[in-house]
Amino acid sequence: MSTIRSVICGAGGYLPERILSNAELARMVDTSDEWIVERSGIRERHIAAKGEMTSDLALAAARRALLHADTDVSEVDLIVLATATPDQTFPATATKVQAQLGIVRGAAFDIQAVCTGFVYALAIADNFLKAGQFRCALVIGAETFSRLLDWQDRGTCVLFGDGAGAVVLKAQTGSGTLADRGILTTHLYADGRHHDLLYVDGGPSSTGTTGHLRMNGKEVFKHAVANMTGAVNEALSATGLKASDIDWIVPHQANKRIIDATAKKLGIATGKVVQTVDLHGNTSAASIPLALSCAVADGRIKKGQLVLMEGMGGGFTWGSALARW
Ligand code: UT7
Repeated sequence: MSTIRSVICGAGGYLPERILSNAELARMVDTSDEWIVERSGIRERHIAAKGEMTSDLALAAARRALLHADTDVSEVDLIVLATATPDQTFPATATKVQAQLGIVRGAAFDIQAVCTGFVYALAIADNFLKAGQFRCALVIGAETFSRLLDWQDRGTCVLFGDGAGAVVLKAQTGSGTLADRGILTTHLYADGRHHDLLYVDGGPSSTGTTGHLRMNGKEVFKHAVANMTGAVNEALSATGLKASDIDWIVPHQANKRIIDATAKKLGIATGKVVQTVDLHGNTSAASIPLALSCAVADGRIKKGQLVLMEGMGGGFTWGSALARW
């Protein structure tokens, strides 16, 4: 039976110029390159320049994704931007990107699911396209997480970085089978009881300030492996696919040990896992589309392949999205 599929037609990423190495961090807090690499796999991360905002990173990634998709801005009628670090409390950063792209129609809004933001945004855009309400969506994950960090807290400031990634989704007619290109299934979850394990200690309605990121890393680690494994298994059981059918796993890039442990639990070879955490750090909502754009640009992800994205973040929120590229 024919159906509407949201086909990923292009991907693009953007990283700020400035690279912050582990060696530099070791001069700022009591840490070492050895500790950071051994515990997280991170070697360096990018940091936005003074005055460079989330919308600037998002715009650059969006332009690259549109170019890669050979798509004119006049086609775009929906922008969903996932971020926990908007330029301003309001209006939505998505509307700034919309204006900078010169788009004056359709809808543009931000969504907030922290590190799961891109998976949530993809699912939202997919459902709008499948419902027939929009035809062409820009889905963006963009963050300036460096602005939320307590640079005196060695337990968190060594883990995060800034960046943006974007994809262009277009509604196309599919056969309704797994042979279709496009998003095949999405699975979203949240459990707000875990608020205190990963949060920011400020906000417009509580302190009137932006606040800083606070995390119980050990506890988050345990939940991350279990939740992302669960979300991937839901995607497999919903489609009847086996782990061995998946060509590429593109996980949220928080920690190499979390990525490896999740792949091991799923029985997926590490050679099928896209990893950028070593060079990007944890860029929250930007991490999955940045990893996607790297693996597409270097030719690993090819048209027709099955790509499984998985994410987990504050809230907790977590989820997965399976697409045939
Ligand atoms: O995007 C989703 C959100 N984030 C995550 O998914 C992150 C999840 N958690 C993690 O990635 C890991 O738990 C961390 C990388 C944060 C920490 O690794 P860990 O193996 O869980 O270490 P730990 O927190 O148990 O800390 C071990 C030791 C502690 O010292 P004591 O108490 O054993 O003496 C920490 O104080 O390492 C110490 N430590 C550090 N030492 C050097 C913590 N941070 C640092 C540091 N440099 N930067």
